[in-house]
Amino acid sequence: MTETQILELIETAVSQLSFSYTPYSHFKVGAALLAKNGQIYTGCNIENAAYTPTNCAERTAFFKAVSEGVREFEAICIVGGPEGKLADYTPPCGVCRQVMMEFCRPDEFQIILARGKDDYKIYKLRDLIPQGFGPGNLEERQE
Ligand code: THU
Repeated sequence: MTETQILELIETAVSQLSFSYTPYSHFKVGAALLAKNGQIYTGCNIENAAYTPTNCAERTAFFKAVSEGVREFEAICIVGGPEGKLADYTPPCGVCRQVMMEFCRPDEFQIILARGKDDYKIYKLRDLIPQGFGPGNLEERQE
């Protein structure tokens, strides 16, 4: 990923904060998912009065892409904070990490946590979900 691509992902993730639907937590999250075909899929968190149907920004982005036939990804940028103020980094929740495990190579997929254009950290999926369970674990062993 080039610096220009990283900055574009941060800008795109930040632009999603305005769509975030958070009447309960008021914690707004935006995501920008870069597919290997160069396309960027966006996502915001969408809360629900029954709480558990809430969808995180990352999963919104993944499910939009997968529902359009795209399954190969390079990186995701996540931003968030109370009332949309980027006070801190917003790491992906455990459920979103598991969804990433389904579609991404843990040693390659990059997760950009940003607080602004000149304040970001990049992790590999492997670092955020060590010993993660993925599709490979369901493959039958050749013995
Ligand atoms: N949230 C996300 O969108 N992504 C994460 O990975 C962390 C949590 C959302 C869910 C909920 O709407 C709000 O942040 C507070 O948990």
